Amino acid sequence: MITAGIIGANGYTGIELVRLLQRHPHVKLLHTGSRSLAGKPYAGEIGSLRSRTELEFRNASLEETAAECDVVFLALPHGIASAQVTTDILKRSCINDLGADYRLKSRRVYEQWYGVEHGSPQLLEQAVYGLPEIVGRRALSDKNLIANPGCYTTASILSTAPIAQAGIGSVPYIIDAKSGVSGAGRQASQGLMFGEVNESIKAYKVKAHRHTPEIEQMLGQLAGSEVGVQFTPHLVPMNRGILTTTYIRPTEEIAGQLTEEKLRGLYEDMYEGDTFIRLLPDGVFPETRWVHGSNYVDIGLSYDQRTGIIIVVAALDNLVKGAAGQAIQNMNIRFGFEETVGLGDIPLFP
Ligand SMILES: NC(=O)c1ccc[n+]([C@@H]2O[C@H](COP(=O)([O-])OP(=O)(O)OC[C@H]3O[C@@H](n4cnc5c(N)ncnc54)[C@H](OP(=O)(O)O)[C@@H]3O)[C@@H](O)[C@H]2O)c1
Repeated sequence: MITAGIIGANGYTGIELVRLLQRHPHVKLLHTGSRSLAGKPYAGEIGSLRSRTELEFRNASLEETAAECDVVFLALPHGIASAQVTTDILKRSCINDLGADYRLKSRRVYEQWYGVEHGSPQLLEQAVYGLPEIVGRRALSDKNLIANPGCYTTASILSTAPIAQAGIGSVPYIIDAKSGVSGAGRQASQGLMFGEVNESIKAYKVKAHRHTPEIEQMLGQLAGSEVGVQFTPHLVPMNRGILTTTYIRPTEEIAGQLTEEKLRGLYEDMYEGDTFIRLLPDGVFPETRWVHGSNYVDIGLSYDQRTGIIIVVAALDNLVKGAAGQAIQNMNIRFGFEETVGLGDIPLFP
């Protein structure tokens, strides 16, 4: 049994962490942190947890929380973790960050895309990128600083990694991504109000979304050369879910010989034994409703010989495999538990 704390436990990803950790057989959740709700009963504020937890919100520092917890989840806006995590804290506790502060290996790239100074660039080297299907379980097994990927990035990377690794795609990859509104967090904002979002779809942060360098970093590592992506996110009127559709033109060398069967073979080889990746049968493409509330990523593939374009579609739940579920998957690996423990939920339908 290990002890856990969450800082930012009243945000969307924090609430999802509580939901999943409350019934994790190897975790005792000790701390649910919030500044604005300190002193209030957790279940009094978050009705879905009624009768499932006696915890209260507390406004304890990261240092205090790490002193009593084996693992601390940081479910905070970017910029806060890097200002607070220290080498001393990492000696005591495993920091499992859901934000962006330790995902990018380059301080310069982080500061350029996030527009804030990185508070602890000396720790970037020891952070492990928490995408186990790509970095491998061994990379996570002894790390005390885990940088969980973004939600869009998880879908984008997992759905194109076999192509990047095999070096068969021309760049840039064109990624058309769609997200439900919970992807933007729980803080109030005019652009996220019901009347603004309902019955409308829009592209946003065109050419400028912060997940772009993260996707490029990981695909570039797999390819061994730069992989540029043209990433365009869209906001759609649903609570949860990410759907990415990626278009890739095969390189000239492979184009004449590529078949859907060969393409599928690359995915089967790369994801063999990865419980949370579901490669869909020929002609079947992912839908967000089939992954709702689960840690699954569904992937569908096609190669259009008429246009010479590979099309890969992926769906996941942004709060589960895109955030809290993935963070728990990483914790399981780090602490030597079975990777899937606590994450066995079948998606909720409808
Ligand atoms: N939403 C998603 O689908 C998703 C997916 C993957 C990753 N992420 C990342 O996960 C992190 C959390 O996202 P979220 O959607 O859960 O955000 P959120 O709903 O906006 O919640 C943010 C939390 O941080 C706390 N907080 C805000 N400012 C703070 C500060 N200055 N110091 C300490 N605590 C502060 C808030 O509580 P108090 O104000 O009460 O302290 C709240 O609990 C973000 O970095 C986000 O990019 C989100």
